[in-house]
Amino acid sequence: MADIIRDKNQSLGILGRWEAKRAVGLEEEPAKDAVNHILVVDDDAMNLLIAKRILAKQFEVHTVTSGQEAFDLLKNQLVDLILLDIRMPQMDGFTFLQIIKDDLTYRDIPVICLTADSEQESELKCFELGAVDFISKPFIAEIMLQRVTRILELSRLQKELQKEVEKKTMTLNRRSQQLNRLTIQVMKTLASTIDAKDKYTNGHSVRVAEYSKMIAVKMGMTHQEQEDIYYIGLLHDIGKIGIPDEIINKTSRLTDEEYDIIKTHPAIGFEILEKMSEIPEIAIGARWHHERYDGKGYPDGLKGEDIPFVARIIGVADSYDAMSSKRSYRGILPQEHIRGEIARCMGSQFDPEVAKVMIQIIDEDKDYKLKEW
Ligand SMILES: [Fe+2]
Repeated sequence: MADIIRDKNQSLGILGRWEAKRAVGLEEEPAKDAVNHILVVDDDAMNLLIAKRILAKQFEVHTVTSGQEAFDLLKNQLVDLILLDIRMPQMDGFTFLQIIKDDLTYRDIPVICLTADSEQESELKCFELGAVDFISKPFIAEIMLQRVTRILELSRLQKELQKEVEKKTMTLNRRSQQLNRLTIQVMKTLASTIDAKDKYTNGHSVRVAEYSKMIAVKMGMTHQEQEDIYYIGLLHDIGKIGIPDEIINKTSRLTDEEYDIIKTHPAIGFEILEKMSEIPEIAIGARWHHERYDGKGYPDGLKGEDIPFVARIIGVADSYDAMSSKRSYRGILPQEHIRGEIARCMGSQFDPEVAKVMIQIIDEDKDYKLKEW
């Protein structure tokens, strides 16, 4: 036995150097929490004693004689590494290892299996179950120390790397949130630029975006689709940028020619937005939000479900806002009147399903808050 448990003072490396420095008063004792805790699980008391003698000078060693005792200890004691005997009565090492690796709390603790020289199959099974290394019995102090130190160092590096990845991921997430906010701000600025052209449609684009999103929520669309429809709503009228101000702001009746010019804004919007390939529906919403369910809309006279769904939603929200905001020739229409108009035009101007949802939203808006202020 004495041959096997050699005196390790020389091979302890860090500890030996620290002890030498401490002797001449150069270095403080390392903080207790900086010392690694090792759990040794072995039903053989002699093996536990040997392992403890090898490791105790460098590490805080905890010894238990069964898997159950090990779990009891782990409830109250964090450990950095487990040395695990494979052949144990009741719960053998494989079972213990399996449980540890299936448990989120313990799965990252590195496990080194303790095996007899002849147990090659067991060693293979240890690796398959997630052990990081194995040490053959009888223990050779040098090898045990080297392996334990190496695995602890690897585990430390892994944790540092993981922390670094988490830090970088957090930075990236923060950056991505900033970009999202910037995107919304840019789009809102664009939307207000469009609305500013027309002195009677102040805030129109943002309201259409909000109403469209409310419809999308009620229709059970995904979170991403709800976000997208908001953007689509914000930019649906961007084509108005290409319409002369004097036509847009004309308070008297438009001539047929002027009306034809107004009717070019969906196509102009489509041309501007079709390069925004990230959300192609933005261009789609701009092009087809003036189509009608009965096919009598513009610019392409699409009918029914040939009109893209997002455009059918924008169409309803757009008309609702037109009625619930001021015009040069009239004030905000009464809520009951708007409800009646949407119900009347269900299936002719509007997609019936979308219109039904809009009516539901109106009915829930008891104080008529959804209007221009
Ligand atoms: Fe429009």
